[in-house]
Amino acid sequence: MSWPAIDRNPSVVPAEAPPLLDEAVREKIRAFLARYPTRRAAMLPALRIVQEALGHISWQAMVEVAALLELPPADVFDVVSFYSHFWTAPRGRKVIVLCRSLSCDLMGSRAVAEAIRRHLGIGERETTSDGRYSFMTEECLGVCEGAPCMLINERVYTNVRPEDVPRILDDPDNDRVDYPRSDLYDAPARGGPERAAESGPADRQAAEGTGGE
Ligand code: FES
Repeated sequence: MSWPAIDRNPSVVPAEAPPLLDEAVREKIRAFLARYPTRRAAMLPALRIVQEALGHISWQAMVEVAALLELPPADVFDVVSFYSHFWTAPRGRKVIVLCRSLSCDLMGSRAVAEAIRRHLGIGERETTSDGRYSFMTEECLGVCEGAPCMLINERVYTNVRPEDVPRILDDPDNDRVDYPRSDLYDAPARGGPERAAESGPADRQAAEGTGGE
């Protein structure tokens, strides 16, 4: 007797699909490679760059990042699926992150979550049909003294009450998606070529701008 083979894992990226990552995004990722001893170590900044450029990290984007970092796509998927910060589906323009940890829970974050769900008609990790809002809960945001608290696009709100939700969601100040980053993120690579010289050939090529994708 022979067992029929069933393909349960068809390719998620059509072979003829045009690349998602343009040269500017690839160049930004390459600029990070010289800071790390291996390409794998640059995965988090690479994924962050991709999410900022595309809004989310699709299967195809993961495959392209994997090729750029010379890793199996499964390794990239492992990282993307581990960190709740990464979205594999399109996010809304305003991403609401409500703290669900102990201090905020004791101070009423569940009631705030219910108010958000009722007001927007969406659940966790969902996006409104007009693409304006996405909602998620997260562990401690580090502002426990202002519990319950939440973030909308990096704008922090403290001591939030359920009745505040409509006003906060409409706040034009949290519509900015280009908040300034820390100097560290944009700082030039420390010891770039020297660090890269200690790495493998692919890393050296990238640091010298001679690698090709
Ligand atoms: S428990 Fe909510 S910010 Fe720390």
